[in-house]
Amino acid sequence: MSRLIVVSNRVAKSDGTSKGSEGGLAVGVMAAMEKDGGIWFGWSGKVDNKGEAPKRETRGNIEYITVNLKQSEYNQYYKGYANSVLWPLFHQRPELMQYSDADLSGYLQANRKFADELLNVIQPGDTIWIHDYHLIPLGKMLRDAGIRNAIGFFLHTPFPSLDLLRTVPGYQKILKALLHYDLVGFQTIADHMGFCMGVSQGLGGEILKNDRLRLGDRHCTARVYPISVETSALAGVAQAGENTQEYKRLYSSLNDRKLIIGVDRLDYSKGLVQRFQAYDRLLGHYEEFIRQVVYLQISPTSRGDVQAYGNLAKRIDREAGHIIGTYADFDWMPLRYLNRGFRRRTVLAMYRLANVGLVTPLKDGMNLVAKEYVAAQNPENPGVLVLSEMAGAADELDAAVIVNPYDVGAITGGLAKALNMPLDERIDRWRKMMDVLEQHDIHSWQSQFLEDLNFVTAPKLATA
Ligand code: G6P
Repeated sequence: MSRLIVVSNRVAKSDGTSKGSEGGLAVGVMAAMEKDGGIWFGWSGKVDNKGEAPKRETRGNIEYITVNLKQSEYNQYYKGYANSVLWPLFHQRPELMQYSDADLSGYLQANRKFADELLNVIQPGDTIWIHDYHLIPLGKMLRDAGIRNAIGFFLHTPFPSLDLLRTVPGYQKILKALLHYDLVGFQTIADHMGFCMGVSQGLGGEILKNDRLRLGDRHCTARVYPISVETSALAGVAQAGENTQEYKRLYSSLNDRKLIIGVDRLDYSKGLVQRFQAYDRLLGHYEEFIRQVVYLQISPTSRGDVQAYGNLAKRIDREAGHIIGTYADFDWMPLRYLNRGFRRRTVLAMYRLANVGLVTPLKDGMNLVAKEYVAAQNPENPGVLVLSEMAGAADELDAAVIVNPYDVGAITGGLAKALNMPLDERIDRWRKMMDVLEQHDIHSWQSQFLEDLNFVTAPKLATA
């Protein structure tokens, strides 16, 4: 029987104890896999030097197979090349890159470890779907080891333009590694174009018909598959979350004030500094909002031992302290900045309660918080999404209040507009966004990708 094997560095917590710091990949892949099941292979989240065998655990129709990382692998692969080179590069922050040859070789070594373990799992006929920037070389390593199965790759982050990509030593290898997949999926047209230009201008490859690319005897198909959410389920989960104690306490603490909500991993790509400055300006320039609004920012620590993240945490503490020090009163706290996560249904209920969802990344592959915020709303009284034009989600959710996340004044203006928006305009904008999410949910994302993977590999597998 043909099985689906999903491979990603981060695997959703299988026991339902997630506090929401895992990010879009884990949330999206979990929602996609829950329906038809499969094997989910990845990092256990643990570091140990003992070299323990992979752990296997089945929950529902998903079998989780997870491996620990050695301390050196964690340092060089996860903290190093993946999150101190590829992440900043793909999010247009080359000045934050900390490249070293040692980290690159640790990255390749960790990919080889994943490949070696996967060789014990893969059976003929399995479909292999590899996710995200941690595992770009894995497809080629599996091919080199003789695996002939269909292998697809999906990049959850943005993909840079060739100009930017060139800033990393050995950038050609990144492009070449991606060409070893049968199908490569990107979030947006711009990401897809970045890859195609990289292959043609950077490597001298050819762009062929039907989204195919060729370099020498290597062929690959590359297309756009915007990831989405479990649209039809989220409003129900949000309503269930209204029964939690946390939600009830939040609700009663508001005292009829309007609520602005932001939920992001504490990451420099999320534009939190500019967002806090915009809120500061809102309170400074619009007296009507003094004592009338509360901004709740939920930001659990992420990759806290990477230097740039530590620096950001200190900066955000300062910005938050400034806002509270300037505007708070003994009976009104304008900003509630929480450096921790909450259970999913609680957060969804908070989305439903919030008058404004504030999502202003400086650069983001998709941003599922934006889509979840929309899907969680009450159709009769929906809140307003204020969305960065630099999030992949803005390509589809253009009925949001779209802002430039670098333009603090524009975010302030967007917030004021959202807080004052009349009901009929709120409903109209929400309906347009909901139509998009109903047409393209997480299940259609998965089935479209896997159908295409099946289609592009069918002739090859038939002659194998
Ligand atoms: C983003 C990445 C994911 C990653 C997540 C959380 O969404 O695209 O691959 O899993 O951030 O980051 P972490 O480093 O905790 O896995």
